Amino acid sequence: MQERNRQVKDYICTPFCEDPPAMEEALKKSREAGLKEIQVPQNVAKAIYLLAKLVQPKRILEIGTLGGYSALWLAKALGPEGKLITLECEAKHAQVAKENFYFANVSDQIEIRLGDASILLEEMIKVKEAPFDLIFLDADKDRYPDYLKFCINLSRPGTLILSDNLIPKRGEIGQPDPRDNEAVGIYAYNQLLAEHPQLESIPLSMIVGEKGRVDALGLTIVNVANEDF
Ligand code: SAH
Ligand code: DHB
Ligand code: MG
Repeated sequence: MQERNRQVKDYICTPFCEDPPAMEEALKKSREAGLKEIQVPQNVAKAIYLLAKLVQPKRILEIGTLGGYSALWLAKALGPEGKLITLECEAKHAQVAKENFYFANVSDQIEIRLGDASILLEEMIKVKEAPFDLIFLDADKDRYPDYLKFCINLSRPGTLILSDNLIPKRGEIGQPDPRDNEAVGIYAYNQLLAEHPQLESIPLSMIVGEKGRVDALGLTIVNVANEDF
């Protein structure tokens, strides 16, 4: 089954998921700098880009920059006045991303904030930062449930929250080993998404990785107007 999944993934990626030169270069620079290759796969990158394009965002928030690969895809969907703020706790990752943004000529549209995302998000809420049109969550999985509260706080009605990696790599589906903090965090997050009265969500399953594993990209809209429907 995994083999067939891998074939489907390759069949989709070959014609639909080519990286523009700036993204290819960003991946090369990230690899050369020794960053882990845990950026979104190309099919997820193309999907978040198209979803962002649909939203026509003026303000995007990303939680988890790494080398800036997903940020470059999201920034491609910004209009000339649009801005993306991306949060990263590793100085080395932020430095590689900064160079990648410079090379891609998008430095003026992307702001990297260095620090622990929880602290940075709390600060943003405290200073009443303007809400975001789109939020991409892709940082430490054990804290996804905490990040959700911050994300809702930084949203307006209609904000699109995209969440990477909603199917953990390990363990029984829906039944994490209690010692696996990441899986526990993700399944708790999925439950919050499903039950939250202010949110409408669906995790879209996607085939990822060399082996054709199934993961999911979370699609969430905050506070829709017609709640009675
Ligand atoms: N979105 C990136 C991949 C992010 S990987 C892409 O697709 O290109 C996850 C990133 O989150 C890593 O760079 C990691 O250093 C960062 N991270 C992990 N925990 C964090 C935290 N508490 N605060 C801020 N960043 C964090
Ligand atoms: C991994 C993958 C991710 O998409 C991520 O955000 C963090 C880690 C991984 O494969 O380990
Ligand atoms: Mg991810």
